[in-house]
Amino acid sequence: MELIFEKSKTGRCAADVPRSDVPEIALETLIDAKYLRDDLDLPEVSEIDLVRHYTNLSRRNFGVDMGFYPLGSCTMKYNPKVNETLAAQPEFTSLHPYAPDSFAQGNLQLLHTMQRLLGNIFGMAEFTLQPAAGAHGELTGVMMIKKYFEHKGEKRRLILIPDTAHGTNPASGALCGFETVTLRSNAEGGVDLDHLAELMTEDVAALMLTNPNTLGLFERNIEKVAQLVHEKGGLLYGDGANANAFLGKTRPGDLGFDVIQLNLHKTFSTPHGGGGPGSGPVGVSAKLVDFLPIPRIVRKGQEFHWSENFPLTIGRVRAFYGNFSVIVKAYAYIRSLGAEGLIRASEMAVLNANYIKERLKAHFELPYDRVCMHECVFSGRRQVAESGVHTTDMAKRLIDFGYHPPTIYFPLIVPEAIMIEPTETESKETLDRFCNAMIAIAREAKDNPQKVKDAPHYTPVSRLDEVLAARKPDVCWKKP
Ligand SMILES: Cc1ncc(COP(=O)(O)O)c(C=O)c1O
Repeated sequence: MELIFEKSKTGRCAADVPRSDVPEIALETLIDAKYLRDDLDLPEVSEIDLVRHYTNLSRRNFGVDMGFYPLGSCTMKYNPKVNETLAAQPEFTSLHPYAPDSFAQGNLQLLHTMQRLLGNIFGMAEFTLQPAAGAHGELTGVMMIKKYFEHKGEKRRLILIPDTAHGTNPASGALCGFETVTLRSNAEGGVDLDHLAELMTEDVAALMLTNPNTLGLFERNIEKVAQLVHEKGGLLYGDGANANAFLGKTRPGDLGFDVIQLNLHKTFSTPHGGGGPGSGPVGVSAKLVDFLPIPRIVRKGQEFHWSENFPLTIGRVRAFYGNFSVIVKAYAYIRSLGAEGLIRASEMAVLNANYIKERLKAHFELPYDRVCMHECVFSGRRQVAESGVHTTDMAKRLIDFGYHPPTIYFPLIVPEAIMIEPTETESKETLDRFCNAMIAIAREAKDNPQKVKDAPHYTPVSRLDEVLAARKPDVCWKKP
């Protein structure tokens, strides 16, 4: 497909701009000449060419609105369009971030209410909505942990991280100057309690635990884990990016978590992925409230105000307070579903994942065969042994069937991992069609392995060098 620059014809234009009726000012009188360009190569195309170009581009994309997108650990669910409409209201989008509090009462009230709603849903004393994504929330949480121990006068060097953790967890710990130590999983995919007891010393600041973990499994010994960590004075950090699995079923605060981060953009109505805007609120138990980032929203009677008057705060973690429109969408989602609806969403997410697990387990190896939460993890090891077909080959073949492939080769503790997250928004018919495609591919891997190895067959380009594309992206257009 031609680039828009390649379609350009000098003088062609998509819009008529009326002639200026004010005197022109020479740019040099406003901006130092050294900052002015001599030339700016922008594409010049007609309106119809412009419309066709971007329409065709969009049709080459794959999104949740086009088809099933079972990307494990990403919660690629359908998000109601009404929430987008609400978040786009001018009352929300037109307010200047520096507007005085008196001009922003409605928006401040929404943020304040959202913090209380999240506090109730997750059982935490207080929330900040400032962080811009899940990993940013993790960083904020670990910064608070660090400050908490500094304030107590304790020097703790270590953070424990299970081998099933999302890669951002060790990165967040390391960025705050902690050494991260890997905690082993047991045979059923949970925390190995003996290993935890061995590692958990008074040098450990926190255990960062994803629950449900990246195997899609709920930690069965969570109370014992919390006890072992707290007995040594450590804190229990919860990565709550997978909260769509337990809304209204359990509350991290009640299970003993001291800090959790959420991914509003996965659980509550904003698509994840593609580098789009996110939101990573962080909830804390009472012992960490003083360390929350500033500014915080305080309520005085019927009024809401920003306040920076918290001497133990870790400071700001972002220039402005959170990705506001993502928070509005999450607020609309929570309000429109209500308590019953949130519980049902989690029940459906878990039911859908278990349905896929049961339908596919005769065809793919299932390393942890127990009831899963919002996602299930298979291994392609059997296909590798039988015919040399790898997980990546089967993922590419799925594209031919019209599906976005699941997450593959993650979590790292499952060789040839295939991680499927169907989400709560998919129907049984969609799940069945997907399972049929997976089963057809498992058969093909036996009967005609080369066909799978050469996939995809029906896309504009076949196998790309993904490593080269990631490591040395060439996205600059150079004028011929
Ligand atoms: C378990 C877990 N933790 C952390 C993250 C990081 O979140 P983000 O991509 O918003 O930074 C993700 C991403 O999906 C995740 O699945």
